[in-house]
Amino acid sequence: MPSFKTSDLTKKQSYNLITGAIVPRPIAWVSTISESGLLNLAPFSFFNGIAVMPPTLGFTVAYADDDRGYKDTYRNLMANRECVVNMVTDTVAHAMNITAKGFAPDVDEFEEAALIPIESELVQPPRVKESLIQFECTLNQVVTLKNEVGHSDLMLCNILMIHVDEAIYLGDYKIDQTAYPVIGRMGGSHYTQTNDLFDMTRYHKIDNTTEL
Ligand SMILES: Cc1cc2nc3c(=O)[nH]c(=O)nc-3n(C[C@H](O)[C@H](O)[C@H](O)COP(=O)(O)O)c2cc1C
Repeated sequence: MPSFKTSDLTKKQSYNLITGAIVPRPIAWVSTISESGLLNLAPFSFFNGIAVMPPTLGFTVAYADDDRGYKDTYRNLMANRECVVNMVTDTVAHAMNITAKGFAPDVDEFEEAALIPIESELVQPPRVKESLIQFECTLNQVVTLKNEVGHSDLMLCNILMIHVDEAIYLGDYKIDQTAYPVIGRMGGSHYTQTNDLFDMTRYHKIDNTTEL
C-alpha cells in the first residue's frame, strides 16, 4: 500500500492526494464586493457546513502562487466581511467553471458567465439568481493555516439567511433531496451528480431499533 509522509510531499502531490481522496466536495460559489463596489464570484470546494448552532459555514481560500497572491474573494471579505455562498447545481456547473478562471480584480464574473445578480436582504453582495440555495453570510473569523511551503485561510462565516428555491422546498424547513441536483467536486477534472440516493435509518443506541 503506497503511503506518503506529507512533510515529504510537494504542494502538487499533496493536492492530488487530498483532493482525490476527500470526495465528493460540495462547492461554495462565493459572491463578494470589492472596496470600490465591483462584484466578484468564485468557486471553493474546500467547503462545508461547520456548525448548526450558531449557523456557520467555512471555506478555504489558498494564497495563490502566481502574482495574484491573495485571491479577490479573500481581499473582499477582509474589506467588508460580507459574502453570499451560492450552491452549485448541474445546470450552472459550466457557468461556475467560467467564474474560476482567475480574472483580474476589475472583471465582474457575473457578466463573464452571463449570470444574473439579485439583491440580498441582509448583506451587500448579490445572490446568484440561478442558484437554488443561497446563504447570506458575514465573516466570523479567519483561521490562517501556514507552513514553509504555503498558506491558506479558512474563512468561517455566520449564516444570517438561507434562501431556498420553491422547486426543492418540501415545507417544514426541509429540502427535497430527491429534487436537489447539487454537484460535487471529485479529484482532477471530475465532478459527480448526487441523484443516486440510498437510505439508512439510524439505530437507537439502547434497543437497536431504528428511528425514522
Ligand atoms: C470547482 C472548483 C473548486 C475550487 N476550490 C477552491 C478552493 O477550495 N480554494 C481555492 O483557493 N481555490 C479554489 N478554486 C480556484 C478558485 O476558484 C480560483 O482561484 C478563482 O480564480 C478565485 O477567484 P477570486 O480571485 O475571484 O477569488 C476552485 C476552482 C474550482 C473550479
